[in-house]
Amino acid sequence: MSLFESTRSTTDEEVMGSDAGTRALSVAAVENDFVEGVYEKLAKVYDYTFGPTLHAGRVQAIQRLGIQPGDRVLEVGVGTGINAALYPRDCFVTGIDLSEGMLEKARERLARKDIHNVRLMAMDAAALTFPDDTFDIVYAPYVISVVPDPVSVAREMRRVCRPGGRFVILNHFRSLNGLLAKVERALSPFTVHIGFKSDLDLPGFLAQADLVPVSIDKVNIPPIWSLVTCIKG
Ligand SMILES: C[S@@+](CC[C@H](N)C(=O)[O-])C[C@H]1O[C@@H](n2cnc3c(N)ncnc32)[C@H](O)[C@@H]1O
Repeated sequence: MSLFESTRSTTDEEVMGSDAGTRALSVAAVENDFVEGVYEKLAKVYDYTFGPTLHAGRVQAIQRLGIQPGDRVLEVGVGTGINAALYPRDCFVTGIDLSEGMLEKARERLARKDIHNVRLMAMDAAALTFPDDTFDIVYAPYVISVVPDPVSVAREMRRVCRPGGRFVILNHFRSLNGLLAKVERALSPFTVHIGFKSDLDLPGFLAQADLVPVSIDKVNIPPIWSLVTCIKG
């Protein structure tokens, strides 16, 4: 189900509000050290807790990436490498992550599954060390509500994507339903302790990162996660 395609309408303006470009994206604030600590602890149980429940979205996202043979793909926040086996074997994937514990799990997975087209690097998504235009596709599954500064991460994703390439964000964002949004806001200072902010504001994020997606699909069950696809102009 596509929420909208390319063009903005007056309805979008109503949804976004006039302060979308400046308002706080979440009530919760985190730092890299805090996030790293959380994921060091989560590494052992991640695949059980966040594995099957979020997997349909991962599968749908891989289709959305439209990977062609030989494509250079960057996965931001590769975690335990849970997506590694989903990539076609004839593309070249670079997976980066902040957490050494998560990367260690990813290394074990690649060895266990005999996957050779994925390389892993320790790196901060908000300060990628790749030159501009390095990748054909840049993909951030379930990461953008984890990082301290989602707007910087989105800018970095766009910077390292080649012109005409895709950058795709899979994430849960705050509901547009007022009651649910209140609950998500109230929970967010607690959910950061299990790895994510539950109240990230999608319209505000898009406005502040200066992103105009070509599509936004709702994924998973219940369909409260968004698959946001952008093309670098
Ligand atoms: C919810 S997990 C997502 C893992 C995987 N992509 C998936 O599909 O399940 C978020 C990952 O982002 C990583 N992460 C958090 N902040 C980061 C940052 N600033 N730079 C790179 N990775 C980061 C965490 O260590 C964790 O592995």
